[in-house]
Amino acid sequence: MLTLAIETSCDDTSIAVVEKPNKVLSNVVQSQIDTHLKYGGVVPEIASRMHIDAIEICLKEALLRADKTLEDIDLISVTQGPGLIGSLLVGVSFAKALGVATGIPVVGVNHMKGHIASNYISNPDLKPPYIALVVSGGHTYIIDVVDYDEFHKIGETKDDATGESFDKVARVMGIGYPGGAELEKLAKDGEDVLDFPRVYLSKDSFDFSFSGLKTAVINYINTENMKGNPIKREDVARSFQEAVIDVIVDKVIRAAKMKNRKTIAISGGVSNNKAIRDSIQKAGEEFQIKVLTPEAKYTGDNAAMIGVAGFIQYEKYGESPIDFVADPNMGL
Ligand code: KG4
Ligand code: ZN
Repeated sequence: MLTLAIETSCDDTSIAVVEKPNKVLSNVVQSQIDTHLKYGGVVPEIASRMHIDAIEICLKEALLRADKTLEDIDLISVTQGPGLIGSLLVGVSFAKALGVATGIPVVGVNHMKGHIASNYISNPDLKPPYIALVVSGGHTYIIDVVDYDEFHKIGETKDDATGESFDKVARVMGIGYPGGAELEKLAKDGEDVLDFPRVYLSKDSFDFSFSGLKTAVINYINTENMKGNPIKREDVARSFQEAVIDVIVDKVIRAAKMKNRKTIAISGGVSNNKAIRDSIQKAGEEFQIKVLTPEAKYTGDNAAMIGVAGFIQYEKYGESPIDFVADPNMGL
């Protein structure tokens, strides 16, 4: 069974062809980042227009690379939400039109379930139950994946997402957008010598709050600048990253222990961060907890992960009703 998967929730136009359950035949990703970085962040109106320009080309390219035609496709999987409404609308409208024109069934897929499913591509032995940690520019979740389509949310961010806090700190340090990867590079040459806060909320909480940490770093930089003191950027990056790591490691390991899960599967753009991955892995070893991540190309937004999640959903619920709508605030 083959699915054509479409992802346009934010600033990447992506179309993939995936064979059930998790074999990726093609995964075309047209990034808009070069346009948005001039503005220091994603401009929603521009993002929607660029999706419209790119989507048909991506479709042709995805079919070509997979050596398939539309006649070979059994299912269309499209990101329904959460995300930017204008961006989502492009993908959902395109998928519905294609479905009506060809008679191929369409499923509206939750973007977060897609991120979780990205680990099935790179780690085919992964089976529920396990703990999923989704850390991206827009989201931070700890989820107990009880079955392939049964998710219990354990914790989430109350303010900034993990990647968002990396990007905001990077911006104040004059690093281009998005700055997470550059900040990690800088941190490698720094030391954790600045005492930035670790925000755990209450002792038993699995929720996150990164805005206080971000403000502490920004205040530190502004104060030192005002005093005319030189700033060691590597130390700022390292101290910030260690503060993020301490909190994430504490909460995700506690969640795995609480649910007695032996695997943690990390996904989302921030799962590219080796320091974060290694720290969770090291902390997990003590409790025989395995830590998995997708290959780098499946960590950020991509249609392949939507295809894998689409199969899971279709098997359980069948096709979506024709009047399903893009949902910018879609919950799990
Ligand atoms: O999943 P993604 O590509 O898009 C969203 O759905 O948000 O994640 C992008 C986010 C950005 O905030 C980016 O700075 C962050 O992931 N990121 C990183 C690293 N690589 C990407 N953050 C920290 N360390 C990295 N190595
Ligand atoms: Zn995403």
